[in-house]
Amino acid sequence: MTMPTLPAAERFVKQVRAIYAAERDESTRWSRIRDAMEPLLAEPGLKASIKTWPATVEGKPAVGNLLFYEDPEYGFVLNATVRNPDIVTSVHDHGDVWTLYGLIEGHETMYRYERTDGGARDKGPATLKLVGKHALGPGTIDVVPPGMIHQEHAGPAPSVAFIVRAKRPGTFPQYFYDPQTGDVTPTSGPKQIPFVLA
Ligand SMILES: [Fe+2]
Repeated sequence: MTMPTLPAAERFVKQVRAIYAAERDESTRWSRIRDAMEPLLAEPGLKASIKTWPATVEGKPAVGNLLFYEDPEYGFVLNATVRNPDIVTSVHDHGDVWTLYGLIEGHETMYRYERTDGGARDKGPATLKLVGKHALGPGTIDVVPPGMIHQEHAGPAPSVAFIVRAKRPGTFPQYFYDPQTGDVTPTSGPKQIPFVLA
């Protein structure tokens, strides 16, 4: 997949590649990528570009992501969600890969859950406990380590998030959780919609 033509995004891809080359420890690596992502979210070129991005989350559970880039060597991807107001996602994880979820515009609330029954990852019934809620606004980056269970609650206005994932959704298992019944359902994750980031 070719490099984004938006200069700030191209610079960011080069930074992420350099971090991958230099840092083997995953949590340090993702902490460094997080730091590199922070100025990108406020970059005027990126903020202008979002006006051209189509909505990807119009209702539950039809969640999509714009797919801007997949690195041919390291496998990380650049995604985005453009969320309509007031949508609450399913409770889910992002599989066994790191995700950075950074808001460019709008406000969301992230609910965090812990699974307390000790069951196998891919099997229900799961007992979930709500362990936190935190607000995200423009410039906030939510770091989602492998396996973390969560739920995004959109705000009263549309929101746009830029996402860096360690692998492209669809290439590894992710799970939906039903907090009432405990059902655990595999999913291939958000539908990937190739989009030129320019
Ligand atoms: Fe998520």
